[in-house]
Amino acid sequence: MEQRRILVAVTGGIAAYKIPELIRILRRAGACVRCAMTPAAQEFVSPLVLQTLTGHPVRTDLFDASQEGEIDHISLADWAELVILAPATANTLAKMSCGLADDLVSAVLLATRAPVLVAPAMNVNMWEHPATRSNMETLRQRGIRAIGPEVGELACGWEGAGRMSQPEAIAAEAGLLLGSRDLAGEVVLVSAGGTREPIDRVRFLGNRSSGKMGFAVAAEAALRGADVVLVAGPTPLATPAGVRRVDVQTALEMRDALLAEFERATITVMAAAVADFRAARPSELKIKKEDLAADSGLTLELTRNPDILAELCARKGDRLVIGFAAESHDLMASAQRKIARKGCDLLVANNISSETSGFDTDDNAVVFVWPDGQVEELPTLPKRDVAAQLLDRVAKARGGDE
Ligand code: PMT
Repeated sequence: MEQRRILVAVTGGIAAYKIPELIRILRRAGACVRCAMTPAAQEFVSPLVLQTLTGHPVRTDLFDASQEGEIDHISLADWAELVILAPATANTLAKMSCGLADDLVSAVLLATRAPVLVAPAMNVNMWEHPATRSNMETLRQRGIRAIGPEVGELACGWEGAGRMSQPEAIAAEAGLLLGSRDLAGEVVLVSAGGTREPIDRVRFLGNRSSGKMGFAVAAEAALRGADVVLVAGPTPLATPAGVRRVDVQTALEMRDALLAEFERATITVMAAAVADFRAARPSELKIKKEDLAADSGLTLELTRNPDILAELCARKGDRLVIGFAAESHDLMASAQRKIARKGCDLLVANNISSETSGFDTDDNAVVFVWPDGQVEELPTLPKRDVAAQLLDRVAKARGGDE
């Protein structure tokens, strides 16, 4: 952590009493630490304590001209290489999830491009409330890292999940986040989700891809310092922090969007489930069954969509192109044939025969397949961890740290 710039943002929970210890650990590890506090946080720990420990004035007020003169809130957001929000109250997590910026801490959280690590701490019922659950899910999808809360006896007298993680654990997680800037300087282009091929004005051909795998790759790549462009099929997923998103509907739109970004990209990851076929003549109007002969079916003529991955591989030069493959059987043999046919540098073969892996799941079971026939099988992991493993291989192939 030598000379790394960490902003510790403190909000109003009893666990704020542990923040001086967190600052001490970070400083001992060589980090340069600054603090920002909400008004409620100051009820639990004094700004003077944190100022003494960090050696810098503590920012508490968005509208105090003297504080803004010292370092304005946008400069503070830009200064940080990592923001640690600890303790993170339910209220501040909700504000983050909504993008509110009505105090100094939430304004900095909205403005920063740095990775954010949150250490929630609250009453167990507040933690388990559907609103907090949903806010945390939104934040995770945007690439925010969370540590804890731990289970145990809470200051309010309740037992359960809600204790802030120990300062040593928060500092260790911060070290991991700061350590992995191995994709800085890379431009990573990711496709995610399924495509929708119109049949008529209301109907389409689609598939079960949720976008979770591709969004995890995009979030992880951004966290590791890459400039990330995400071309996404229709999905309600939130855009990960620091990622530029281009929304598309059809395979042809996805192809256009990818080709427009491909020249600039040094690494391309095709996690999208692109429809292989589209309706040859989609109707401008809704097809009505009254217009068809009674009891007759409807025959749909399909035409092939371009193979975008093969097209990108054909023009890739020394850029890295990674494909995915969804396989329900003969995983290895199909994957080996696919990598040879498409010409990519690495193929991530998904096992979609299990309920807990592949389409619209939180976890994935994948095998990395290389063009020379080497394979590497991973255990079933959360998609975010699969993304991290994939990007470890990619960074190594690009000559960075593993
Ligand atoms: O989105 P999730 O719910 O998280 O699910 C993730 C996933 C299972 C969709 C993802 O991990 C995955 O496997 N994506 C690829 C699925 C797929 O379409 O596989 P495929 O074998 O049909 O295609 C192989 C590769 O060619 C893929 O990289 C695909 O993006 C690409 N392709 C396919 C068809 C086409 N016309 N053009 C393409 O570029």
